[in-house]
Amino acid sequence: MTRLSLCLLLPVALFAQAPNPGRVSFEGHCAQCHGRDGNGGELGPSILTRIGNYTEAELGALIHDGLPNSGMPRNALSDAETRTLVAFLETLKTSAEGVPLTQATVTLTGGGTLAGAVLNRSSDEMQLLADSDHRIHLLRKQGAAYREVTSQTDWPTYHGQVSGNRYSTLDQIKASNVARLAPKWIFPLVNTSPLEATPIVV
Ligand code: HEC
Repeated sequence: MTRLSLCLLLPVALFAQAPNPGRVSFEGHCAQCHGRDGNGGELGPSILTRIGNYTEAELGALIHDGLPNSGMPRNALSDAETRTLVAFLETLKTSAEGVPLTQATVTLTGGGTLAGAVLNRSSDEMQLLADSDHRIHLLRKQGAAYREVTSQTDWPTYHGQVSGNRYSTLDQIKASNVARLAPKWIFPLVNTSPLEATPIVV
């Protein structure tokens, strides 16, 4: 071995930690579908927020039985390996509700301000849960201020009105310009392959 390669290898050997056996088991049995960090891959969804739906015993049973109808195989792991794997899964767990929300105060185009918790935000939109009325406000950026977005017509079910009419009286889109419509955004839902639906507006 040359002196150079010794120099390069030494620090690795000194500082490498013993691999976490739960992680090794996860990488061997689960990561090919759920991704190395459990955040999902081509063959399986993210499990980060789903782990919390199971007790440790249920996770053990899930690992053992798999989900044969959904494409997750059974695993014949020893009890000891199952326990270390379950303990590792517990460290991956994130709770959708546990994410702390940031607070913001925005200036409204009509004057005044609105303060609350930011539920969602992009470069030109924000959804704010206002401290004052505990309602969700949909805001669209206009210059440095935000305008409250209102809907002239509700679309409360994927059918349109609850009578299922699938028709809107709004006339910005009509027979003469409908051919110019183009997709603006798509939000894929995990594990719902053939589902397509309209957004709901109330
Ligand atoms: C061959 C691919 C594959 C492998 C390997 C695999 N899974 Fe899955 N797993 C899936 C699929 C697909 C689903 C989604 C089932 C659904 O949502 O219908 C799933 C779902 C899950 C869920 C969520 C169940 C729920 O309530 O929605 C957990 C937790 C999970 N897997 C853990 C594991 C663990 C731990 C391992 C390793 C021991 C593992 N999986 C190995 C494919 C896999």
